[in-house]
Amino acid sequence: MTASPRLERIIEMTAQELNVRLAEALSLYVTAMNYPPGTVEQRAPMWLAHMLREDWRCVVALGERDELVGIGYGYRGAAGQWWHEQVRRGLTTVAPPTAVDEWMHDYFELTELHVLPRAQGRGLGEDLLRRLLEGVHTSRVLLSTPEGPSKAWKLYRRVGFVDVLRHYQFTGDPRPFAVLGRALPV
Ligand SMILES: CC(C)(COP(=O)(O)OP(=O)(O)OC[C@H]1O[C@@H](n2cnc3c(N)ncnc32)[C@H](O)[C@@H]1OP(=O)(O)O)[C@@H](O)C(=O)NCCC(=O)NCCS
Repeated sequence: MTASPRLERIIEMTAQELNVRLAEALSLYVTAMNYPPGTVEQRAPMWLAHMLREDWRCVVALGERDELVGIGYGYRGAAGQWWHEQVRRGLTTVAPPTAVDEWMHDYFELTELHVLPRAQGRGLGEDLLRRLLEGVHTSRVLLSTPEGPSKAWKLYRRVGFVDVLRHYQFTGDPRPFAVLGRALPV
C-alpha cells in the first residue's frame, strides 16, 4: 500500500505575511488548544511582539483553499525574555551552572506548534516541526509543553526531544509543564 499524497502545502511565512493573517492564525491556535475564544485578543499582542524577536521563523500548512491548517513558530531565546528567565530559574534548581549554560546560551525557543483537529494524526505536525527546525541555526532547540500524555508528547519524543525540566510550574499557570530540548540540526 502506498501512502496517500499530502493535501496540505507547507511554506515559510514572513512576519509581514503572518501579520495579515493573524486573526486566522490565532483562531487556529485557540481551536487546536481548545482554549476559550477570548484567548485570541489576549494572545495577539504577544504574537506580534514575538515577531520582532531575533531569528523569528514561522512555517504554516495551507489547505486546498489556502486556509491555515497548521502553524509553527519560534525565535532565538535570550536573557530578559519571560520564558527564558522562567526556565533558567527552574533549571538552576536542578542542574549545575555548566548544564544550564549548555542548554540556554544558544537556543531556538519553539514557541507554538499547532494543527487543526481535523488535520491531526497524519504526520502534519511532524512535517511542520521538521521544516521549522531546518531553517534554524542555533545549536539547540527548547520548548515547554503541559505534562503528557498527549499528541504533542508523542511527536516530540519521536523527533528526539529529551527532558530538560519536568513537572515545572511557570508563574501564573497552575498546570505542570515539561521543558524538552534537543541538539540541532535534527
Ligand atoms: C501536537 C500537534 C501539533 C501534533 O500534530 P499532528 O499532526 O497531530 O501530529 P503528528 O505529525 O505527530 O502525527 C503523527 C500521527 O500521524 C500518523 N501518521 C500518518 N501518516 C504519517 C506520516 N506520513 N508521517 C508521520 N506520521 C504519520 C502517525 O502514525 C501518528 O499517529 P499517532 O499519533 O496515532 O501515533 C497537534 O496534535 C496539535 O495541534 N495539538 C493541539 C495543540 C498542541 O498541543 N500543540 C502543542 C503545544 S506544546
